[in-house]
Amino acid sequence: MDRKAIQSHWQNWAETYRDSLRATTKTSSIKALEIDALRRAILGSPLHNNENLKVLEVGCGNGYNCLSLLQSFPGADITGVDFVPEMVDHARENLSQQDKSLGNQLRFLVGDVLQLDEHPELAASYDVVFTDRCLINLPTQEMQEQGLIQLCRKVNQDGILLLIENQTQTHGNQNRLREALGMDARKAAEFNLFMDQAKLIKTVESQGFKLQDIDHFASLHDILLYVLVPFMNGGQVDYDAPIVHAATELLLKAQQDTPHGFGDYGQNPLFIFSRTEQ
Ligand SMILES: C[S@@+](CC[C@H](N)C(=O)[O-])C[C@H]1O[C@@H](n2cnc3c(N)ncnc32)[C@H](O)[C@@H]1O
Repeated sequence: MDRKAIQSHWQNWAETYRDSLRATTKTSSIKALEIDALRRAILGSPLHNNENLKVLEVGCGNGYNCLSLLQSFPGADITGVDFVPEMVDHARENLSQQDKSLGNQLRFLVGDVLQLDEHPELAASYDVVFTDRCLINLPTQEMQEQGLIQLCRKVNQDGILLLIENQTQTHGNQNRLREALGMDARKAAEFNLFMDQAKLIKTVESQGFKLQDIDHFASLHDILLYVLVPFMNGGQVDYDAPIVHAATELLLKAQQDTPHGFGDYGQNPLFIFSRTEQ
């Protein structure tokens, strides 16, 4: 798909699913794990003592990550940007359904990850810049590289860059498990181009960052959702399978006790980069 068709896809989901989580994901369980991973990454960084964190999410959809992070970091100033105006409208609706006074601390703007430095309403830099399944919507590796560079430029000197983006490598690992059980490999959606892990790290490190960690927070969840449940279920992925929700509960309660404990099978790990050595 080209960029216009990808944008139409997201516009269509925004118009169909409006302020619901379904506008950006089919999986409420993965959303809970993503938010938890972002929160833990900030708390595990030298920024954990900063009560006035300045945060930017690019590709924010209808705002679930930003709204949740504001609950975890009540002093933060958060900006969400998305290139689909209808997503931004629904993010603003979700915000207004919560405490109206939060509008001073959280705003949603229309903008493109490829043109962040031209955006008149964005600050020069932020303590935390993050994406969650945004760059995979850029249709070429060159555009993904440009997007990464744009994001890097928005991180301040002591800041961190957090990227939750689907990887060809971890997706491949997951597919090998499926094939071991006699199932076909799953393909990426036509509006996604999964990223190459080595290229992602090389590009970000070339901008003066250091990779601190890769959090494979969804491995157990994804092995169940995409391998074992389909194996027991005639090949069907079942987003509501009780075992998937039980695994999510376990991971939310005990992730810190099992770092890297379930391998690298989650298709969208979290890459944690810092500007400076930590
Ligand atoms: C899978 S959704 C994820 C939304 C949100 N990050 C979340 O985790 O709930 C991807 C979002 O990225 C947005 N997006 C895709 N390409 C973009 C671009 N070039 N610039 C800004 N946003 C983009 C889409 O409109 C969509 O809302």
